Amino acid sequence: MADAKKPWAGRFQEATAPSVERFTSSLHVDRRLYRHDIEGSIAHATMLADSGIISRADAKAIIRGLKSIRADMEKGRFVFDPADEDIHMAIEKELIRRAGDAGAKLHTARSRNDQIALDVRLYLRDEADGLIRLLNALQKQLVGMAKKEIATIMPGYTHLQKAQPVLLSHYLLAFAEMFARDGERLEDCRKRLNVLPLGAAALAGTGLPIDRTRTARLLRFPEVSRNSMDTVADRDYIAEFIFAASLAMAHLSRFCEDLVLWSSEEFGFAEISDAYTTGSSIMPQKKNPDVAELIRGKTARVYGDLTAILTLVKGLPMTYNRDLQEDKEPLFDAVDTLHDCLAVFLEMLAHTRFNAARMHLAARGGFSTATDVAEYLVEKGVPFRSAHEIAGGIVAYCIKTKRTMEDLTLGEYQSFYGGFEASILSRIRLENAVNARRHFGGTAQKAVRERIREFEKILDKK
Ligand code: ARG
Repeated sequence: MADAKKPWAGRFQEATAPSVERFTSSLHVDRRLYRHDIEGSIAHATMLADSGIISRADAKAIIRGLKSIRADMEKGRFVFDPADEDIHMAIEKELIRRAGDAGAKLHTARSRNDQIALDVRLYLRDEADGLIRLLNALQKQLVGMAKKEIATIMPGYTHLQKAQPVLLSHYLLAFAEMFARDGERLEDCRKRLNVLPLGAAALAGTGLPIDRTRTARLLRFPEVSRNSMDTVADRDYIAEFIFAASLAMAHLSRFCEDLVLWSSEEFGFAEISDAYTTGSSIMPQKKNPDVAELIRGKTARVYGDLTAILTLVKGLPMTYNRDLQEDKEPLFDAVDTLHDCLAVFLEMLAHTRFNAARMHLAARGGFSTATDVAEYLVEKGVPFRSAHEIAGGIVAYCIKTKRTMEDLTLGEYQSFYGGFEASILSRIRLENAVNARRHFGGTAQKAVRERIREFEKILDKK
């Protein structure tokens, strides 16, 4: 309902048009910030009293009022008035109703421009912590699985063509590395958002004797923002966060893509348990990896959120513009999507079994140890390019005669190069090919075990 008594109505002659009220309101979106808005306001009121800007009694009345509003909101008892523009207005209006004149002093030395920056930073700090915990849990899960699958050999692919045999545990740890970097990116982003914006007020700061360090301490911010104009214009922390979320989604999506492929009859490498798959309404035999597909699909949403925030800020004149109100929907969507995807992926992964026999069989095909033949020759002093050619000739011979490299006799090997010895036949066994790659970062059991131990050490502390 149009209401001439808006907190900013002093210079207005006419009431706001109802259509404008509806159009400008963000209450339906930003009401989820209520806890952080109230936490920020309690700290602000405390600082105002500590600095002698308002009386202790007023601060007490404000804090009592805010706590009672929070309790009502928590219990779902609070009746939101759609005519309130945003969560700040809704809370302040109710505070004034409950605490009278004292309530009307809360907004001293503050603007909604620094207030919203504060709310979002507090909110995102909490959410980042939750997401980092989920990423750590996912890494732990992967490390546990890698330990179990330490002897499982699978074909490694490039171009989705069989390339070289690798350990399944090496594959699983590859994703653990990605999720570790995602966690680091969130930690890094958290550092930059963990800065107190309050005190910037509308854009220029305030003439009142505020103590920003005091507010920062109350809200556990290790730093205070350094420029009031930057503070109300800045949305870097949102863009950074959504970028970090986008990459984490990309990693989940690639993992899901493999699980979708591996669940097919053609691959048969993995089976996701019934509880994490769905059926078809027409084809009775179907068991579909829909969860994995949906995670892949939801990645697109988060990329959309990233595009939205980057586009939102690109043409804005300094400093705050109402456009910035549009930052919250992409942010909340990115937070929720990443959170839900990580949580369900973690469960699904814990309910996925790998078919070691199928993987082993697949690794045997496709001449996946041809590179080992070449490396064997290098060890015998053959230049790599010539070794590559000799090994290529052996592959062509196998294709022509419908043989595998394991089937060939030593005599056949020697017909390609006289220096082959009986050891070539053991050199190209899958286990030996894998375990030959024992340098740091390689797929040999020894190297993988080392990395598992390192991961365990790091993750134990988290
Ligand atoms: N709802 C606004 C937002 O999310 C709060 C800041 C409004 N400031 C203003 N001057 N209208 O950005």
